[in-house]
Amino acid sequence: VVQTTQYYTAVSIDGFVADSDNSLDWLVKRPSTPERDERFQSFIAGVGAMAMGAATYEWVLDNEHLLDRPDKWQEFYGDVPSWVFTHREPPAVPGADITFVRGGVAEVHAAMADRAGDKNVWMVGGGRLAAQFAAAGLIDRVILGVAPVTLGAGAPLLPWRSPGDLRLVDVDRDEDFVYLTYDVPAPAR
Ligand SMILES: NC(=O)c1ccc[n+]([C@@H]2O[C@H](COP(=O)([O-])OP(=O)(O)OC[C@H]3O[C@@H](n4cnc5c(N)ncnc54)[C@H](OP(=O)(O)O)[C@@H]3O)[C@@H](O)[C@H]2O)c1
Repeated sequence: VVQTTQYYTAVSIDGFVADSDNSLDWLVKRPSTPERDERFQSFIAGVGAMAMGAATYEWVLDNEHLLDRPDKWQEFYGDVPSWVFTHREPPAVPGADITFVRGGVAEVHAAMADRAGDKNVWMVGGGRLAAQFAAAGLIDRVILGVAPVTLGAGAPLLPWRSPGDLRLVDVDRDEDFVYLTYDVPAPAR
């Protein structure tokens, strides 16, 4: 079993992961479908550690009212240990395995990879944090769920110049999303 670090996210056709109000309403207002739920369940079953930026964490916290309903965190993410990058001290979801970290991504990634064992590392987002991982050569795979919407402006998917082409390894679809899987080339040494 080879562990990979995967940046797995939903994205608009025009390359944004959140709108200009940092909102994901355009994504979560959609009714969930059994197929999409199953896709996420099978993804999360392979995840042994996950990382996200403070903006992403705080959006989930507020939008899902996690401080009042902390059990929902487990519903979404199970027992997967999480690292949240922030320069501040946001409230922790009670009962969730969350570590607040700041600064260099390499050291944190090493700790995550260690905890994940033979499972994968999930870079949840946002794009600016994912770009720090990518720049450090720490993203092996990018998996996009392209939503049938354009946002015009917002938080960018991955503001990073890839050193070469990503390798397209899979294309899939459900009713109205397209799923694109790419391998990221190893950085030049
Ligand atoms: N479509 C999707 O599936 C999806 C997935 C993920 C995220 N999103 C959305 O995308 C938006 C996030 O955009 P984003 O890229 O601006 O935000 P982000 O990566 O979620 O968070 C940015 C924040 O993370 C902290 N941060 C980043 N790097 C850090 C480092 N090295 N050390 C310490 N703290 C660090 C900083 O917080 P401080 O304020 O503490 O300095 C920074 O303001 C959110 O609205 C989120 O909801 C969407």
